Amino acid sequence: MSIQDILQTMDYGPAPEDSTIVRDWLARHEEGFGHFIGGAFTAPGETFEVQDPAKGETIARVSQGTASDVDAAVAAARKAQPAWAKLSGHERARHLYAIARHVQQHARFLAVLETIDNGKPIRESRDIDVPLVARHFYHHAGWAEIAGDEFGGTEPYGVCGQVIPWNFPLLMLAWKIAPALAAGNTVVLKPAEYTPLTAIAFAEICAEVGLPEGVVNIVTGDGETGAAIVGHEGIDKVAFTGSTEVGKTIRRQIAGSGKGLTLELGGKSPFIVFADADLDAAVEGVVDAIWFNQGQVCCAGARILVAEAVAGRFETLLRARMETLRTGDPLDKSTDVGAIVHPVQLARIRELVGQGKAEGVTLHQGHAPEGCFYPPTLATGVEPASVLSTEEIFGPVVTLTTFRTPADGIALANNTRYGLAASIWSENVNLCLDIAAQVKAGVVWINCTNVFDAGAGFGGYRESGFGREGGSEGMMAYLRHKTPDGPGADLPKPSSAPHGGGGTGGIDRTAKLYIGGKQARPDSGYSYTIEGPKGPVGLVGLGNRKDIRNAVEAAAKAGSWGKATGHNRAQVLYYLGENLSARADEFTARLESLGAPDAGGEVETAIRRCFWYAAQADKFDGKVHQTKSAHVTLAMHEPLGVLGIVCPTAQPLLGFISLVLPAIAMGNSVVAVPSQLGALAATDLYQVIETSDVPAGVVNIVTGPRDELARTLAQHDEVAGIWYIGGSEGARMVEAESAGNLKQTWTEGDGARDWSGAHGQNKGFLHRATQVKNIWVPYGE
Ligand code: NAI
Repeated sequence: MSIQDILQTMDYGPAPEDSTIVRDWLARHEEGFGHFIGGAFTAPGETFEVQDPAKGETIARVSQGTASDVDAAVAAARKAQPAWAKLSGHERARHLYAIARHVQQHARFLAVLETIDNGKPIRESRDIDVPLVARHFYHHAGWAEIAGDEFGGTEPYGVCGQVIPWNFPLLMLAWKIAPALAAGNTVVLKPAEYTPLTAIAFAEICAEVGLPEGVVNIVTGDGETGAAIVGHEGIDKVAFTGSTEVGKTIRRQIAGSGKGLTLELGGKSPFIVFADADLDAAVEGVVDAIWFNQGQVCCAGARILVAEAVAGRFETLLRARMETLRTGDPLDKSTDVGAIVHPVQLARIRELVGQGKAEGVTLHQGHAPEGCFYPPTLATGVEPASVLSTEEIFGPVVTLTTFRTPADGIALANNTRYGLAASIWSENVNLCLDIAAQVKAGVVWINCTNVFDAGAGFGGYRESGFGREGGSEGMMAYLRHKTPDGPGADLPKPSSAPHGGGGTGGIDRTAKLYIGGKQARPDSGYSYTIEGPKGPVGLVGLGNRKDIRNAVEAAAKAGSWGKATGHNRAQVLYYLGENLSARADEFTARLESLGAPDAGGEVETAIRRCFWYAAQADKFDGKVHQTKSAHVTLAMHEPLGVLGIVCPTAQPLLGFISLVLPAIAMGNSVVAVPSQLGALAATDLYQVIETSDVPAGVVNIVTGPRDELARTLAQHDEVAGIWYIGGSEGARMVEAESAGNLKQTWTEGDGARDWSGAHGQNKGFLHRATQVKNIWVPYGE
């Protein structure tokens, strides 16, 4: 090609990145890589091939982790953990800082290795992935330094089992390892089988910086190895990023084990363009939203929703821009779209797009070479129910749908089982913030997209998982509140079904259920007897699954409670305290009849607790994160929605109050199942609730067999979270059944804590009652 030709076409020449050092490193390990356990690499075991997807060549062999490899890694992590946690925050910080420095020193090597292993363009691995990895370790060196001051009353979990995907191999490793170590945990991490190489290079860095043996252990392998780590009894906390399907499997697998769990799963995030948006900027936004990393991004803006008035113009601009994207050799510095991670993933993308085609969508495609590549693709004429609108494709495929009003736009945006991210484009910041408040997503980007920073939390709502990575929220995912005060008295165990149905001789009043602000007869028509030390005390309704469904429906209708101001909610809670105080003698007498050892004290503490949570209602705020320049990130506390609360057996008034108050103070509506044995203490509250201006449906109470009612709550898709204080079998059931819509769960043994002490009232309850939405707002230059 002559210079004149080049000037005519203005075509790019090849600009390949030199990969010699990486190729040499791979050649030195031709015999295969072992695992990194206890500070050293094991000899390679049974190995599998790792491929460069762009060239279709085998570049390395890594070991398939066996059960005994996992045993060894967990043992090494367990051995190292106490000493690691005992180091001062400063000493841990120095280790994390050293890792950050060494990541920077090896930045080019890591970027090239990532690109060869994953297929992502070198521009991205060099300018986005690796710098974010270094930033993550620096940021968490800071958390290690100050964790002692910042996270009082907490302790590390111990040994964390971490399983990560292939789309951002080194970055996901950093997101997992940095906070875990900063908090004083040790880890066993498994990289994805398609992309294990940068994790191995990272292990070399750990050895290089003199990280104590066993603090980081890397075991390679496939899903079976992942399952062995997750299920290992020596693991205290599991952190997983990957598909929603595997996330649900893990939820069920470890149900009842007492392990902590955070899940960062799939998404189908909306990219909403209003008529007054800067359309050119929004088009560039789409490039970053769905053609970044070949669309293999959990928070990819995969559904463009564009205002009808500008849809034609937007589509024209977008298609023109799509034509200019260069798909090809990932090591070429001018490549925009690289290779798909593996032929299996390419086949999956083709299969889903094929299904969309069969449904009649129109496809517009850019260019892609032969091989493991897929062209940038825009699908128009897509129905909301189409497979392309609902399934996570994890490829460079975006749909375009129009909307008329902002309300339509929001309805379409939220029409998904996921809730990871959303991107909103309009020059009117009032509109953007209004939409940001309504969208159900853990991350919201205003006039930007796919922006990340170690200082902001990242993670989803709904079936996109729970827990956050990054910032103080991410640190909280690796710390737990210290073990409660320990068991109080031995608790009588409620039988699975309350006996009774008959009268109690002389007692004719039966407490009903409380649903939608009204007392309601139980569907069964039956009641059961509450026994006190001196015989029967009264009758309460025998609730069943229909009652729970009614209560959930009523709670869902009370959604406006979540939008009430903190001040309004505080007023209601103060009023509850005042009304409870006015009837303190009555409640004391009731608790005495139920055999409470300190009835007066329990009532007094319950009243104080109303005031404490009233005080918190307008003070437990989110945060403002200083993240990237030209942005500010608002971390807003939002309620989960409908919360199921299954209360402890002992301290029937205080147990109930201690759980229900923080939940409603934060704007949730509640379906509560009171203590099965002491239910009368809760049913006596109906009149207090009625006279305290608690809006109908905010608190619903269903008495009856604890575990049966808990099961219905756990299975209900309208319930967003469930707190269960009860038996270990019930806890297992609740966690397993909650996998259906990935409810946030908190389970604890009945009697594990004394509800009258500090463990019955603290900010931990408020954290559990909220989820954080991180909103990225343009700010400054
Ligand atoms: P995956 O969820 O199967 O794999 C992610 C990680 O989990 C890998 O390290 C894998 O070895 C491990 N794993 C698999 N089964 C496991 C189990 N039972 N227990 C413990 N660990 C297990 O994802 P996959 O099959 O690679 O991709 C399939 C689809 O999942 C993609 O097309 C995409 O839609 C979605 N995906 C979403 C990701 C996200 O970040 N949200 C990341 C990767 C995939």
